[in-house]
Amino acid sequence: MCGIVGYIGERQARPILLNCLARLEYRGYDSCGIAVAGGNLQVHKDAVRVEALKEQLPRRLEGKIGIGHTRWATHGEPSKVNAHPHGDCTGKIAVVHNGVIHNYQQLRQKLIKEGHTFTSATDTEVIPHLVEKHFDGDLEKAVAKALAEMEGSYAIAVLMDGKAELIAARKDSPLIIGIGDGENLIASDVPAVLDYTSRVIYLEDDDIAVITGEGVRVKKNGETVDRKPQRVTWSVEDAQKGGYEHFMLKEIHEQPKVIRDTIRANLYTDETAADRDISEKVGAGEILMLACGTSYHAAMVGKYVLEQLFKVPVRTELASEFGYSGQTSSQTQAIVITQSGETADALKAIKRLRSEGCPVTVITNVVSSSATRIADHVVYTMAGPEISVAATKSYTAQLMALYWMSLFSARIDLRRKDSLIMELRQLPGKVQRVLDDEETIAQHAAQIAKHDNVFFIGRGINYPVALEGALKLKEISYIHAEGYAAGELKHGPFALLNGKAPVVAIVAPDNNYEAMLTNIKEVKARSSPVLALVEEGDEVVAEVADSVIVVPKVDPLFSPVVNAVVLQLLAYYAAKERGCPIDFPRNLAKSVTVE
Ligand code: M6R
Repeated sequence: MCGIVGYIGERQARPILLNCLARLEYRGYDSCGIAVAGGNLQVHKDAVRVEALKEQLPRRLEGKIGIGHTRWATHGEPSKVNAHPHGDCTGKIAVVHNGVIHNYQQLRQKLIKEGHTFTSATDTEVIPHLVEKHFDGDLEKAVAKALAEMEGSYAIAVLMDGKAELIAARKDSPLIIGIGDGENLIASDVPAVLDYTSRVIYLEDDDIAVITGEGVRVKKNGETVDRKPQRVTWSVEDAQKGGYEHFMLKEIHEQPKVIRDTIRANLYTDETAADRDISEKVGAGEILMLACGTSYHAAMVGKYVLEQLFKVPVRTELASEFGYSGQTSSQTQAIVITQSGETADALKAIKRLRSEGCPVTVITNVVSSSATRIADHVVYTMAGPEISVAATKSYTAQLMALYWMSLFSARIDLRRKDSLIMELRQLPGKVQRVLDDEETIAQHAAQIAKHDNVFFIGRGINYPVALEGALKLKEISYIHAEGYAAGELKHGPFALLNGKAPVVAIVAPDNNYEAMLTNIKEVKARSSPVLALVEEGDEVVAEVADSVIVVPKVDPLFSPVVNAVVLQLLAYYAAKERGCPIDFPRNLAKSVTVE
């Protein structure tokens, strides 16, 4: 969602801020802006992309200190006036903010009575006015006093004309400081600073940092705290397109490596703390898995995997719905899956679980993300930075984490366990074979792209894959797509089968095979075209379906990996055919930090 950047050092801030903002574009935004201080404070912002803002900037915009922002509208429409940075009445203070100030209406009314004037509809604008109100020469203290009046979540960067420092603070919204040589940066996300440094400080809740070109001082509740810089392993190349037309395509192609990296990382550790904890505790109770979007689909696959391998009941719930129901007991062991580790609904669910005494294991891709700070255990996925809004390699990495987690403590016959581990090692090669078939999949996608409605069906462990295939297609190609458990079609959706809406059927050679075959025949009887995903060697389905995409032979337990890769490519090429902005679909954000 919104992105924050800041720079202070020896170089001109403008190009660095714009470059950092461009690196944050993947988070999704509708407007952007920068403020640069150099003699006077200049703010430039608009409801445009970063590239367009760059064109709008005046030739002379000099200064070695500045802040910038990409905004994803929550309070007030996307517009020039609502874009960040926001300022105070004196025109000397500029603030960029991620998060939501819950009591902004009250603060705003109070400030108006005190003579402040507001120009935007945002909650953020109260912050510079509060800082102005409390400023008596010490910017850090003024910010601390302003924060004390605010309720809600925030990550902020504050700049004041005439001050050779930036102030950064966070609460329930991520913020990092990039440590450079004679320069320092602020960002809401690591990829923003990778061009300049790989050493970062992860700020914690209630931290207030004073940043100069020479150093960083952090205080929490008035006391100085030592926040050590950490070296990030993600490289600049990881966060760039590397010759691919889109990040999504690059990330789809990285999946064999992601699987290999997970296997390598787990090969030498027979158990992680999280594995141990789960295997010790689940015997007595149940596993509850929570997540949103694609991560939820990974959790749904995880349910089948854990139930088969652990032989314990597993429940999945949407994290966004968990607040309204969902029972836990003292024997509930929770697993929350979140790529970003910042999804507001996932964080809320973790907090509730912890307050009810349930141990929570978080599976996430982002080191030191908010979810990692409030969980009991953390399992990191090996996906590397995922820039495209559409999740692809992070889904596969989540499945890999779940496979390893359950395989090590599996309560199954030893021979079956060994054969699964062996199969898992062959999975990168199998996924590579799917990728090698890209052209064929692109041809099928060109057909799909002609339609406005598409159905995806699957059964058992491939039912969540049908949901994921539909989600991928709709989010990047804007084609209306629905995923169904194949047996459910005749309970309503059949009414929509008019011969025009194609049905993509995922057929695995498991105990659902015959039922899937019947479902395909039922669809064909209603004249709808069927594209089936079938395992190599299957000649039966090809006789019934209109066309097939052949996937390599894998154990049915791993079929959600190869099948999902096919559906990712199908969605990608359908979106490309339709000329959609694949990496940054409209209205969507990479990390959804509001409920
Ligand atoms: O970061 P998270 O895994 O918590 O994000 C959850 C969803 O917002 C996310 O999976 C979303 O559905 C995907 N970007 C869709 O491709």
